[in-house]
Amino acid sequence: MAHDLLGRALRTLRISVTDRCNLRCEYCMPEENYTWLPKAQTLSYEEITRVVRVFHGLGADELHLTGGEPLVRRDVPDLVRLLAPRVTDLALTTNGVLLAEMARDLRAAGLRRVTVSLDTLRPDRFERMARRRLLPAVLAGIAAAKEAGLAPLKINTVVIRGQNEDEVGDLVAFGRELGAEVRFIEYMDVGGATRWAKERVFPESEILAALAARFGEPARVPTDASSPARRWALPDGTIFGVIASTTAPFCRECTRARLTADGQLFLCLYAKKGIDLRGPLRAGASDAELAGLVTAAWGQRADRGAEERLAVLERGALAQAERLSEDPHLEMHTRGG
Ligand code: GTP
Ligand code: 5AD
Ligand code: SF4
Repeated sequence: MAHDLLGRALRTLRISVTDRCNLRCEYCMPEENYTWLPKAQTLSYEEITRVVRVFHGLGADELHLTGGEPLVRRDVPDLVRLLAPRVTDLALTTNGVLLAEMARDLRAAGLRRVTVSLDTLRPDRFERMARRRLLPAVLAGIAAAKEAGLAPLKINTVVIRGQNEDEVGDLVAFGRELGAEVRFIEYMDVGGATRWAKERVFPESEILAALAARFGEPARVPTDASSPARRWALPDGTIFGVIASTTAPFCRECTRARLTADGQLFLCLYAKKGIDLRGPLRAGASDAELAGLVTAAWGQRADRGAEERLAVLERGALAQAERLSEDPHLEMHTRGG
């Protein structure tokens, strides 16, 4: 098992299978067009499988498939079929738009669980936040995931003051009805979040207060060590989570590495530079050589990206639009949320 300079083990690999997306959420991809990663540089499923084998050999046995929107790469069930037998936990984080047509294939390919992003239950608001009229597709996708037996089903909601903070109660009620765990995510100032401002963060404390006012005081319940969410139970037993990345970062427990669609390894959501694995992979490096690269990088790791941001007083978006178009690897949708 690889450990970094702060004693953190390498447990989870988040793999972005594409940087493209079929929504334009304002906190992640506010522009219509982007500098996309060249297609020729996208790792094939065989290449991804090799990287996963190497990580597995180092003790990382949890995999999360992300994007962009992972289901935009239409044959993603083929990748699931290759990866599912190799790991103990395989999850997929999706915006749900294509899930209605793919949930059953994904389940049949060996996927156990999905997390679907859903920021609002109101069609007009969805269109304002995601710039596409696709809420019905997402809701159908969530229903299809449940129907296909993908469990546990989780819902991710980014809460932004002035946009959707008045819906936290409705979303919890929606999750309760469905049997899904809703997790509220604080708005983060990562790459892509060019419209981020401190005032727009709706913090965990206010999320909890809003839910307490409607449902009664929530109580803390045990949390899975490898998940960034702190979990809470309402008096009626309904469980929800809060990912307080902005006001209460969890870097101390961070056991995640991320692989971009073009094979760059990032050790922190906020890291400025990645480590190229595609080059060595395509130049014929052996598994042992690739493992050596990963162990060396992880062994030197001291990242505490989100915690360090806490110390920045005049805080705005981490990267400006020009910087992001020069280096698409800084984008949240490239490094996979
Ligand atoms: P499970 O709880 O095991 O389902 O995994 P997860 O919460 O890591 O998966 P998901 O893809 O749903 O991630 C949810 C959100 O947590 C992401 O969109 C990010 O906003 C945040 N997040 C995930 N990983 C990190 C991380 O390493 N650092 C920070 N600061 N935030 C993260
Ligand atoms: N702040 C918080 N979460 C974000 N995501 C994307 N951008 C941001 C941001 N600026 C989340 C999405 C999704 C996941 C893949 O990344 O909501 O749940
Ligand atoms: Fe891990 Fe970086 Fe996120 Fe901190 S900010 S939890 S170190 S990825």
